[in-house]
Amino acid sequence: MSKKVMLFLFTLVCLCLIVIFIMILSANNFKPTNDNIGKPKNALPLKYENNGVTYVNGHVIVNKQLALPAKYKPGENKIAKKQLNKLLKQAEKRNLDLTMTSGYRNFENQEKVVDTFVEKDGKQKTTKYAAKPGHSEHQTGLAFDVGTSQPLNDFHTDFEKTKEAQWLAKHAANYGFIIRYPKNQSKQTGYAYEPWHLRYIGPQLAKTINEKNTNLESYYHLNK
Ligand code: DAL
Ligand code: ZN
Repeated sequence: MSKKVMLFLFTLVCLCLIVIFIMILSANNFKPTNDNIGKPKNALPLKYENNGVTYVNGHVIVNKQLALPAKYKPGENKIAKKQLNKLLKQAEKRNLDLTMTSGYRNFENQEKVVDTFVEKDGKQKTTKYAAKPGHSEHQTGLAFDVGTSQPLNDFHTDFEKTKEAQWLAKHAANYGFIIRYPKNQSKQTGYAYEPWHLRYIGPQLAKTINEKNTNLESYYHLNK
């Protein structure tokens, strides 16, 4: 091979290497970084049904529109109960008089509860604060009602004013609970304000919902 050909080949190889090097460099420049990956502003919640039970992002959802089958009997949720006990213990340390007044109710239990309320308050008033059988969160095993042991004139209107209810509103989320039916949100939740009804959804979501002063229906866009 002549010297000229060898020089030509050497120059060609050098040029190829330079081109490859430039291509690698420019490809690296287009690599997405944490800063330029588009962050979704609205991620739609994942809603699905399994054996007649509706879940949104893994949370069981039950309300006036979404029912649970009568045979759905999960019992009291152990994690939720443990968290409730922690919450009640903390309240006790602060000399607050907070106790659990109601927990897991299966379909038949809810039927009995509703019948008693209807006898006392009539059907129309009852639908504002009691869920029809199959529509109660108490059937999930994740909901608890709390109250004070001191008798109040009218629990429904007076509990809200107690120091217990005020402490609860501030601290329930730390234990993974939300006040499921907040004040002035009955259009979205379907129920009147219930400062005593706690629903366990885990601390992360509970804190978000609490900070936004919202409810599950609005947060997950469930009312179309
Ligand atoms: N008080 C709530 C709505 C229930 O009955 O489940
Ligand atoms: Zn309740």
